Amino acid sequence: MKKFIDLRSDTVTKPSSEMRKAMYEAEVGDDVYGEDPTVTILQSNMAELLGKEAALFVPSGTMANQICLNVLTNPGDEVICDRDAHIFQYESGSPAALSGLQLSLIDGVRGIFTPEQVEPLIRPTSAYYMARTRVIEIENTHNRAGGTINPIENIKAISALAKKYNLYTHLDGARIWNASVVTNISPAEYASHFDSVSVCLSKGLGAPIGSVLAGNKDFVKEAFRIRKAWGGGMRQVGVIAAAGLYAVQNNISQLKEDHEKAKVLAEGLSNIAGVNINMENVETNILMFIPKHISIEVFQKKCKETGLLLGIGKVGEIRAVTHMNVSFEEISEAVNIIAKVLS
Ligand SMILES: Cc1ncc(COP(=O)(O)O)c(C=O)c1O
Repeated sequence: MKKFIDLRSDTVTKPSSEMRKAMYEAEVGDDVYGEDPTVTILQSNMAELLGKEAALFVPSGTMANQICLNVLTNPGDEVICDRDAHIFQYESGSPAALSGLQLSLIDGVRGIFTPEQVEPLIRPTSAYYMARTRVIEIENTHNRAGGTINPIENIKAISALAKKYNLYTHLDGARIWNASVVTNISPAEYASHFDSVSVCLSKGLGAPIGSVLAGNKDFVKEAFRIRKAWGGGMRQVGVIAAAGLYAVQNNISQLKEDHEKAKVLAEGLSNIAGVNINMENVETNILMFIPKHISIEVFQKKCKETGLLLGIGKVGEIRAVTHMNVSFEEISEAVNIIAKVLS
């Protein structure tokens, strides 16, 4: 098979041989009975890492987000989030389909909205004819906005606003690890400003599957029930929980290198006349750029023909994501391919 440089996403990362060894050696049991020892260790480690009372292992980030929203709301409630939020753009309409929710969308700046933008959207509790505002959702880092980090002061202010209005808060922290290694703010400090949090093990951390949600004990007890109801009860999954454990224990600090790769890539692209990119916007491992004078579909196809796989972001934007399975040499090669395609 042809070897591609794959910058479509950090989800393409593959389990290393050390991770596979940990999977091979994992103790297992029936997790639907709560008897898989490796899952139990993962959940308790994750609860501790996220500073929450309890945590639950689930197959995907989408399921983690959607279970959290379901537990926090009733049908007909409203969730406030950014217009580019993953829960709105990329989760197949699940807030409506699975939980009967409507979303109230904010045009954030690069995925980041302020308390001043949120407050006017909170519906008065006396207005029985309106949806009930129930949750404010924040994504950090923000995928579709290009890996942006939400400033902690902004998060604190939004969390305080939520408390003032008796609203819940949910953090889509699929890539909270990336934010954390840049800011030195721990995942637990980020999570402390939210009622519920979802994190992913299978993106930059390199596990083949798995996400975790966390919150207080009652919240996770109900999440456990919903996971089963939605067909997400899993059996001897210590084999995959072991990959997640390995990922959080070994692969968080290496994300710094992913961020360096993104900077090197952005720098290379900024020297190509046919590329529009704002270097300052590259905060973590995701970068967006616009190839000039060519449709992004044609550009993407030509890159693929030359051995480079790229993703698509917002309308007209190409998305490139760096990760542990792409080397600095391949990043330079990617720049050369793009320069050639645009020459
Ligand atoms: C910010 C964010 N949240 C949630 C998800 C969903 O994760 P999954 O693909 O595991 O369902 C993703 C996936 O890329 C994501 O980027």
